[in-house]
Amino acid sequence: MPKSMIQRTLVLLKPDAIQRSLIGTILSRFEHAGLKIVAMKMVWVDKELSKKHYSEHINKDFYKYLESFITSGPLIAIVLEGIFAVEIVRKIVGSTEPKKALPGTIRGDFAHHAYDYANKAGIAIKNLIHASSSIEEAEKEVKLWFKEKEIHTYKTVHELHVF
Ligand code: CDP
Ligand code: MG
Repeated sequence: MPKSMIQRTLVLLKPDAIQRSLIGTILSRFEHAGLKIVAMKMVWVDKELSKKHYSEHINKDFYKYLESFITSGPLIAIVLEGIFAVEIVRKIVGSTEPKKALPGTIRGDFAHHAYDYANKAGIAIKNLIHASSSIEEAEKEVKLWFKEKEIHTYKTVHELHVF
């Protein structure tokens, strides 16, 4: 098995996904693609964790809206594992702005928010989900959210057919 192509990536089902009862629907997209859930927990994020997770955005105008969104209720944090998981999960998630996200993606199928609306309303873009955007970001985020002992090793049936 070419192990170097097996990656881990961090996914957050944001508070809007939880409050809209979309946990199962969204998770099934990843399960059906054969991605393996190797860690998962429900967390009510505080301002400190928000600032660590979104450190690249802290100085941006929208950060205050993003912090109030991400701390507004519990979210589900997940580590997914699979072949080129970082790129594949971003493809399944779709573009940041739901208005631009294509049908067939999670953000395109289950949200319709737009930058213009969010900016005028003084709120964050409600786009249901976060996914690490690069291998480096994934490594940093998986470490931030999970201890090594919370990440599990087991076999799925996909491994019989895919690997
Ligand atoms: O989440 P993603 O990596 O696709 O986008 P990002 O550029 O890293 O932004 C992080 C999050 O900030 C987005 O998912 C939005 O929820 C929010 N955001 C926003 O509310 N307004 C913006 N102009 C840009 C991002
Ligand atoms: Mg990002």
